[in-house]
Formats: sequence, structure tokens, C-alpha cells
Amino acid sequence: MSDKILILGASGQIGTELTLKLREVYGNENVIASDIREGSEELVHSGPFEIINAMDRGRIVEVVEKYGVTQIYLMAAMLSATSEKMPSKAWDLNMQSLLIVLDLAKEKYIQRVYWPSSIAVFGATSPKVDTPQQTIMEPSTVYGISKIAGEHWCNYYHNKYGVDVRSLRYPGIISWKTKPGGGTTDYAVDIYFKAKEEGNYTCFLKEDTRLPMMFMEDAIDATIQLMQAEEDKIKVRTSYNLGAISFTPSEIAEEIKKHIPDFTISYAPDFRQEIADSWPQIIDDSNARLDWNWNHSFDLKTMTKEMLKNIQSENNEVVKVL
Ligand code: SER
Repeated sequence: MSDKILILGASGQIGTELTLKLREVYGNENVIASDIREGSEELVHSGPFEIINAMDRGRIVEVVEKYGVTQIYLMAAMLSATSEKMPSKAWDLNMQSLLIVLDLAKEKYIQRVYWPSSIAVFGATSPKVDTPQQTIMEPSTVYGISKIAGEHWCNYYHNKYGVDVRSLRYPGIISWKTKPGGGTTDYAVDIYFKAKEEGNYTCFLKEDTRLPMMFMEDAIDATIQLMQAEEDKIKVRTSYNLGAISFTPSEIAEEIKKHIPDFTISYAPDFRQEIADSWPQIIDDSNARLDWNWNHSFDLKTMTKEMLKNIQSENNEVVKVL
């Protein structure tokens, strides 16, 4: 039987590009995009699109049955900064949606699940450099608490019910098609847009705040590679550390200046500084590299070139998400 894929949260930053790539790989009609609201023109018109609230089990089942869905990618979530402002809403969305999807796999509606975790599972007591796959994990954010709980639910459903659930701890993801919203790593996307549109940027993190980051194309490749890997290659059922590049606001600004010499940056750290300070600086992702051959392609230089090439200073059609 061929794969039929449903993406929940397809209009979001990662969901948009993941859907388009999956449609390329599996065929447009085999990849059903869904979100609580409509997404970009391209997303809605290149294949099936359904309005779904990821916390509505009945509606998810209806769509799963309608299309004969075999795999779900659950990309709907509230990110770190927004979650601090709405803790219980964040917990409800991030947890309820996961438990619904895991139950659907347990009940054999679907065969495979993808769920993203984050570097936010680590906290101030975790090693900051080359943060290992397994280490002290005491997250201090609402988002991090929901992600570490989610990871353990995934592991539990795998061990207890044989659910084939796979997960990655994404670093900050940088993209030009759809902007992120409500995250702590969002500055690394905003800076490119402001550089192109206004020539200056005020950063909400301090200049020397180093965080793990990744270009969207690498994140999508990692996700699809993990989901296509043979089952016996997947040794981690909580979530895999995933790394690519790490930089500070001043380093990304220097790279941008190579293309836009007049670009200026200033710093006005806000509450997100504390969140960033609790996260790792560089991730050790050797398990992913070993188990299913993960390898990133983009560094700060090639990513910057790609971002500035694709961002139009006028008539930008980029969709801004919550
Ligand atoms: N990019 C996310 C955030 O900043 C981390 O997973 O919230």
C-alpha cells in the first residue's frame, strides 16, 4: 500500500515547506495539508487541503478515513516565547494534539507518526557545548516542559504499544518562505528580512548569545530522511539531537554585512534572553549521524547567501504565522 500523509499544522513555518517537499516526493494527491487556518496559495492549491484543529480528534479521524491516511506529521505547536505568555494554552495544544495522534497510531488508524521536539528540552543544568543526546534535562520554559513530556510519551507509546513514532530535537530553523512566530530563535530569520527591507535590525538577544541553528532545507531533509529510514535503524524513540550550525547575533550580522555593507545592528534584549540563556550553544548529534546517516549541507555563509537571494525587499508574499 502506498503512503498517504497528513500534515497537521501545514500552514506554519516548517509545515509549509515540509508539505511542498513531501508533495514532490510522494505526489501531490498523497499529501494532505491541514491547519486551523488556510496557508499560502501554493500550499492550498498544490494538493488536498483540510481545515483541522489539531485538538479535535473526531475531525482528524474523519480526514484520516476520508483519504486512507497512513502517516501523520504533527507540526502544530506553540513556540517558546508565546508559550511563556499562555502556559495552559501551550500545554493543551502541545500535549493534547500529540496524545490524540499517538492514540490513533495505537488504535492502528495510522502506521507512522512524526512529532518535532526541540533544543528547549535542555535547561541551565545541561552541558552547553556539545550537549549530549542523554544528559541532565531540566527545562525551565513551558515550551520545554511540554516537549520533554511529549518525548517521554512518544517513547512510552513505542515501548508499550509498538507505535512507530519518530522525532527530532530541532534547533532554531531559518527560512524565507514562511516566517516563524513566537519563538526565541526567530531573530535569526527577522534579521535577514530587516537587513533587506530597512538596512538595520534591533536584536532581542545579546550580541554574544550562541544558539544551535539550521537552514530550513536541512531541517526538511532530516525530517524526511528520518521518516524513510528502516525501522531497525531508529534506536532513539524519545527524540534525536539534531545539529548543523551555531552562531551569535554578532556573527550573523557580520555575515550579512559581507552582502549589505551598510547594514547595522543594535541590541535590546528582552524576556527571551533568559530563555536563550537556558538552552545549549552547540548540540552533539552523533547518534543521528550514526543511526540514519544525518549530514547537514548549509553553513552560515551558504545559508546567508540563500536567504538574501530569496527575500524580495518589496512585494514580499511571506506569510507571518502566530
Ligand atoms: N525555535 C524554537 C523556539 O525558539 C525552539 O524550538 O521556540
